[in-house]
Amino acid sequence: MSVEQTKIDEVMQKGFFDTPIDPTLALFKEIENLKKEKNVILLAHYYQNDDIQDVADYIGDSLGLAQQAETTDADIIVFAGVHFMAETAKLLNPKKKVLLPDLKAGCSLADSCPPDEFKAFKEKHPDHVVISYINCTAEIKALTDIICTSTNSLKIVESVPKEKKIIFAPDKNLGAYVMKKTGRDMVLWDGTCMVHEIFSLEKMLEIKEQNPSAEIIAHPECEAAILDIADFIGSTTGLLNYTKESPKDIFIVVTEAGIIHQMELASPNKTFIPAPPENTCACNDCPHMKLNTLEKLYLCMKYEVPEVTIPERLQEAALKPLRKMLEISAKHGL
Ligand code: 13P
Ligand code: SF4
Repeated sequence: MSVEQTKIDEVMQKGFFDTPIDPTLALFKEIENLKKEKNVILLAHYYQNDDIQDVADYIGDSLGLAQQAETTDADIIVFAGVHFMAETAKLLNPKKKVLLPDLKAGCSLADSCPPDEFKAFKEKHPDHVVISYINCTAEIKALTDIICTSTNSLKIVESVPKEKKIIFAPDKNLGAYVMKKTGRDMVLWDGTCMVHEIFSLEKMLEIKEQNPSAEIIAHPECEAAILDIADFIGSTTGLLNYTKESPKDIFIVVTEAGIIHQMELASPNKTFIPAPPENTCACNDCPHMKLNTLEKLYLCMKYEVPEVTIPERLQEAALKPLRKMLEISAKHGL
């Protein structure tokens, strides 16, 4: 049984999450009170449900969230996001208690890269600098030279001397995009995000035909065929900023639909159309991100579980490539 599964079982046995919440509780107010009482910072990713975004102290992309986690002086970091994000927070600020409302909130990219297989892959490509997307486990970070996010991936790859060979993991779509933009040849790990690979090019072109003035804005985790037709490509923060600044007033948003909440708040007179998935399910909702709910958030803050910890053997090795990323980002004002 994995360490994480043991932790999930412990939390469940204690019954915290089985106790029905008093339906008369005003959860927003209760969460605000708990934040003050326990000196908590609530960090949320843009893909969280609207109500969680509304009660968060900071909402951001993976880079912004890591930077906030590193510098906060709160006693407890509650992470409304997925497991690799909470692990990153713990690595960067190890003295803080880091809580994740649902330990099962994983990531298909992180899952696509098992450490043993990655070790063997590295051995097949000796003398390569390893750059890993932050969407990976602490085990993979410990096997990495520099971490990157969607905001800084081009700068991170460009920071590696031209004569050096590079392994890029685990997102092959982001890797291919970076190769195209930088002209660098890289060996790519074969991983994808289950949300960003599901968008339908055909349906998107139909929407564009019905709304010819709409701009297509896409996250670089999308497949090349989608990125080829995009008017703008960027991280979640990059996409949000673009919609604020663009003179256009209609956008087809090709990323997880949670980001649209902040886009609508920032530009109430603009229209945001979530890009359609291949089938009729709500597949552009990340099922991992959406495991977090306001109720779980409240329980997690009240009982201070489940806590995310990092095995001691990984702490130093997994922190090193994160620090390197933050150094390079700071040099570029990111
Ligand atoms: P960013 O918010 O850093 O662009 O990452 C998107 C994502 O898929 C996070 O899991
Ligand atoms: Fe992982 Fe994709 Fe979900 Fe982000 S949206 S957490 S990359 S599965």
